[in-house]
Amino acid sequence: MSEETGTPIPSRFGEPLAKLVPVGGFQAPPDNFYEAVGGHETFAALVHEFYLRVAKDDLIRPMYPEQDLGPAERRLLLFLEQYWGGPRTYLEERGHPRLRMRHAPFTVTPRARDRWLELMREALNTLELPPLQDATLWDYLDRAAHSMVNSADD
Ligand code: HEM
Repeated sequence: MSEETGTPIPSRFGEPLAKLVPVGGFQAPPDNFYEAVGGHETFAALVHEFYLRVAKDDLIRPMYPEQDLGPAERRLLLFLEQYWGGPRTYLEERGHPRLRMRHAPFTVTPRARDRWLELMREALNTLELPPLQDATLWDYLDRAAHSMVNSADD
């Protein structure tokens, strides 16, 4: 139907499109990126792969105040899920993200950012997402990491 006129839009084959679409024959399209990319499972895998690498990293690991990386892994997971349209648990547990402010206690140099991104790139590679979904996530993570820098390299 055309929204303006309310008349059926003819298809190239001379039939109204609605007649060519089998009723119930299609799954409802995912209504946000979170679902389209695989929901909780995808984000949990990404963040887990990332923290496996953080745990072994000589530059990033020492920045974490807690001995146990589990809680930090969960915070990043909840944040990313919420950002991409999933559950809003981060907001309930942590309040408004204000990520730059939350990183202020840590010295985030360009070198730390590049290492963070290197580990995240490796983690993202393990998911083998379709190129467009991979690029969508990567573009965001890259920009977010650049915005988190708060100190010059020493
Ligand atoms: C640029 C390099 C970055 C470094 C070196 C870095 C480092 C850290 C450190 C040391 C913490 C504290 C650990 C904790 O207790 O949670 C932290 C927390 C966090 N980071 Fe980053 N981070 C970086 C970039 C990012 C980016 C790009 C994002 C999001 C896309 C992000 C999201 C978070 C979140 C959600 C938390 C927990 C905030 C909270 O609720 O307290 N970080 N980060």
